[in-house]
Parts: sequence; C-alpha cells; structure tokens
Amino acid sequence: MIIKNIGCLVTCAGSYPKTKEQLKDAGIIENGYIVIEDNLIVDVGSGDGYKKYLKDDTEVIDAEGKTVTPGLIDSHTHVVYAGSREFELPLKLQKMKYIDILNAGGGILSNVTKTREASKEMLEAETKKRLDLMLAHGTTTVESKSGYALDFENEIKMLEVNKSLNKNHPMDVISTYLGAHAIPKEYKENRDGYIDLMINEVMPYIQEHELADFVDCFCEEGVFSVEEARKILKAGQSLGLKAKIHADEIESIGGAELAGEIKAVSAEHLVGASDQGIKAMADNKVIAVILPTTSFYLMLDTFARARKMIEEGVPVALSTDCNPGTSPTESLQSTMTFACFGLRMMPEEIINGMTINAACAVCREKEIGSIEVGKKADLAIFNAKNLNYLFYHFGVNAVDKVVKDGKIVVQDGKVSY
Ligand code: NIG
Ligand code: FE
Repeated sequence: MIIKNIGCLVTCAGSYPKTKEQLKDAGIIENGYIVIEDNLIVDVGSGDGYKKYLKDDTEVIDAEGKTVTPGLIDSHTHVVYAGSREFELPLKLQKMKYIDILNAGGGILSNVTKTREASKEMLEAETKKRLDLMLAHGTTTVESKSGYALDFENEIKMLEVNKSLNKNHPMDVISTYLGAHAIPKEYKENRDGYIDLMINEVMPYIQEHELADFVDCFCEEGVFSVEEARKILKAGQSLGLKAKIHADEIESIGGAELAGEIKAVSAEHLVGASDQGIKAMADNKVIAVILPTTSFYLMLDTFARARKMIEEGVPVALSTDCNPGTSPTESLQSTMTFACFGLRMMPEEIINGMTINAACAVCREKEIGSIEVGKKADLAIFNAKNLNYLFYHFGVNAVDKVVKDGKIVVQDGKVSY
C-alpha cells in the first residue's frame, strides 16, 4: 500500500519518551508519502519518491493534501464495564462530591454490581462497541484496565475480555490489573483482607495465565492510601507486572512521589501532584499520563499542571480515561480539545503525547507511536489541512480513514473492517 499526497505528515519520529523541547517537534513532513508492506512501514518521504515502489497490485491511497498521524494510542482507559451512570449527572451538578457518591455505594461500585452480573459474552459485546468508536476516532491501540468487578472470578473475566478483544478486534488491547480501584462492599470492614486477596491470589493467577502487563492502584484520599498502594504495586512488580498508578487525581496525597520511589512506568491523572512529586517523576523517568477530560467532567477547579511538568522534564502523555463515571468518551479528539484549552499544551506537544509518549507509557515504543521505517502501519488520516487545523476545528470526528496493521479499517469516519 502507498499513501501519497499527504499535505501534513506528522511522523512523531524518535522512539523514546519526549521531554521539554523535543515535545515541540512533531517531525512534520510536507507533501509526504508512506510505503507499507504487509503490516509494516517500509519507507517514508516527500514528493514522488514513492513511485519506485509502484507495482500492478499496489493499493494507492490519495490523501488529497490531508493530515496523517500515527494511529493514536489511548494509554489509560477503563473501557471494559457494564452499566452506565447518567443518574449521577444531576447529583454532580448539585455539587455532590465524587467521593461522597462512591461512599454512598454509587460511583465505581454501581458498575461493579452490573459488571459482576454480566456474562463474559455480554461484557465483550459492550466493549467491542466502544472499541469500534475509538477506532472510528483514530485510536489504534488502547490500554484497558480491570477494576469494575473487584473479586477474583470477575476481575479475571474482565482481563479475559481484554485478551479476547486483542485477538478478535483490529484494536491492540494492552491489559492492566486494577483490582485496587475501590474496596468492594463485602470487604468494607476488612481492607487488609481484600489487599491480601489481590496479592496472594489474583495477581499470581494473572501472571501465570499472562492476563496483564501492568498493575495499577487508585491511590486517593478515601480510596487506597500511599502505604497500601506501595504494598500492592511492589507485590505486583515482584511478580513481574509493571507498575502504573492513579496518583493525586483529586487530592494531593503523595502519589506522584510514590511513582518516583517505586520507579513506576507511569503516574496518571496528577491534578494535585506536588512540586516534589513532579521532581520525583522527572528524576525517575516516570511518564505523566494526563487526562484533561476527567478534570473537566469532575468539575475540578484546576487541570493537571502540564506546563510545569514539561518545564521540569517529565515526559507527558495524554489519554481519554474512557470510563462510565468521570470521562464517558471514546474520543482522543475530545482529549485534544481539553489538552489545548485546559492544559495549554501546543498541538505538537499533544500529538506527541498521544502517539510516541503514549507508546512509552505502555512500553511499546519500539513497535508503535511514530511513522518510521520498521514500525507497524497504524495510521490515522484526518480531514485537516494541517496540524493546527485539527485542533482548531473541534467537536466533530475529523477522521477520514484509519489504517491498522496495514489494512483500512475506517472509511469516511466509519468502521469498515
Ligand atoms: O480514572 N480514578 C479512578 N478511576 C476512574 C473513575 C472510575 C469511575 O468513576 O467509574 C478515573 O477517574
Ligand atoms: Fe482512570
């Protein structure tokens, strides 16, 4: 396959976590082309250099001067769940706090009931619809966390849904165990009992059956403390799972500092991250995964301090946090808007944050996240004449086509695989 006549080819070249000035360079090539063989990129250039590859059976796509980026990578989602929480909307608007809704048995716990009840087939069918939406909006790889079941059997069911969709859906699905998303109601008076269950039973099973690459913990005032998060994440690390952490999403309790201390791959949310926490992340090369739609949807007073993190040398990635409570959206294009106007990040920084830096946040930077020779042919073609246009025109799906593993899977913004 050859894609030619690309007005703005955003390569995001360089397979490492981008920081500071590097984030400002999106590796843009004007009048570009991409040559693909099977599922891999074999040449990238500008002008008519593609002509030497033309054969009788070459599929040529004319990008008509549009913008092409690496397939977007959504590096923090809770896309597997049953139930929805529109009933919380009026409560939120009347200023009931997220933590108070959770402690009254709503929030995460209301999806837990529904997710436990759902059969694996139902859960997979529901999730597939959301993955289709993601694909239609330009996402080609998604990290997917468990955490809406909170018992042995059904957390495993969630991770098996990830595994099955990774195999049966065009999307690449990367699995994270987030048993530490809340304390389930049957363990309300026995927190340590639930932590022991995760450490002694669930995680060894996950490791043995290769059901997750990462372990995560919702380290937050009223959920899991820093001490509990340290214990859970270190236990996961000693079993071979890599650590991620929901850190300082609402209150500042030292989650970012913990991420540095245990050398987590990433710390996520970070709205309340302290100066010391940001420094600990920079010193230990922890990726910051920032989720601006969540700050907006929680109606927090502030967004994460992305500019400060970039200044301090933290590699920043951006994600939807797609979930039924705090960010019910499948579109990284929504994240683009809030990253611009909430975080005040520049288009080049944002696109690096949802491609190569996001690939680093899921430890796949050698395979995906940039348009370079040898990488997977995962690409999004947007109806935008340049990168700024993509961010300037908002609230609609700008995707024209998506190429996943060298095949067209989205046409005119609709899934076609
Ligand atoms: O990332 N913080 C924890 N998890 C989700 C929210 C989950 C929910 O409210 O259902 C988040 O915001
Ligand atoms: Fe989250």
